[in-house]
Amino acid sequence: MNTVTVSTLKALKQEKRPIVMVTAYDYPTAKLVDEAGVDVILVGDSLGMVVLGYDSTIPVTLEDMVHHTRAVARGAKRALIVADMPFLTYHGTREETLKNAGRLIQEGHAHAVKMEGGEEILPAVRACVQAGIPVMGHLGLTPQAVHQLGGYKVQGKDLASARKIVEDAKRLEEAGAFAIVLECVPEALARLVTETVSVPTIGIGAGAACDGQVLVFHDLVGFASDLKPKFVKQYADIGRDIRAAVARYAEEVRARRFPGPEHTFSMADGVVERLYG
Ligand code: KIV
Ligand code: NA
Repeated sequence: MNTVTVSTLKALKQEKRPIVMVTAYDYPTAKLVDEAGVDVILVGDSLGMVVLGYDSTIPVTLEDMVHHTRAVARGAKRALIVADMPFLTYHGTREETLKNAGRLIQEGHAHAVKMEGGEEILPAVRACVQAGIPVMGHLGLTPQAVHQLGGYKVQGKDLASARKIVEDAKRLEEAGAFAIVLECVPEALARLVTETVSVPTIGIGAGAACDGQVLVFHDLVGFASDLKPKFVKQYADIGRDIRAAVARYAEEVRARRFPGPEHTFSMADGVVERLYG
């Protein structure tokens, strides 16, 4: 079991120490972000967009999530690993939801699952929590509902939709969710939710009042992510470095400057002569 648990996150909220969450989708990235000291690694279904090249998270399958979660779990020793439940995998029967969440835990080796939505997903949240699977909620901009929301837009700007988000957060807490992601909501609303619920809120495009922050790894390091929403801060330009490194490699191969003697194996002279002889 990794060092960070759901209890660690609750304690961090109580001590007013910000929680650090970032996404990862493979072994080397999980290893690096874990070594960097993040508290939570999210195997997000943003996988579909930043790794698999789809234009939304909707095509991501449970199979995809299990496969990538397994790789992440091999790389992380300290962080809590949370895996997203993909589109439509927690809206069927209680048995279907448990079977799907169970695969992320048992085969993927995640410690917890994340589900998008409020009121409408409470049965799924309760089912998992009763089965011993910790659930992280996700309110505000819920990308799996992009067609219903009519695009990737800030949520909870008017009174009715803001109140609905506060209500949903309370219901998620009652249903046993251990934390709630707030995506793309005004700062004042995120602050109210954070003060209202006793479980940690983790913001993305939700301002500084949340109990923690999350960013998509590829956005954070500039790894060929096409989108650059207002809420992203890019801390590195890994894409530029990769392009330059591969271009230099191509140039050196074409100029026969790579490989050099230091990259090359030799044979004893006598053997070479007989081989060619
Ligand atoms: O899939 C994801 O990366 C997410 C975060 C943006 C919270 O759900
Ligand atoms: Na997600």
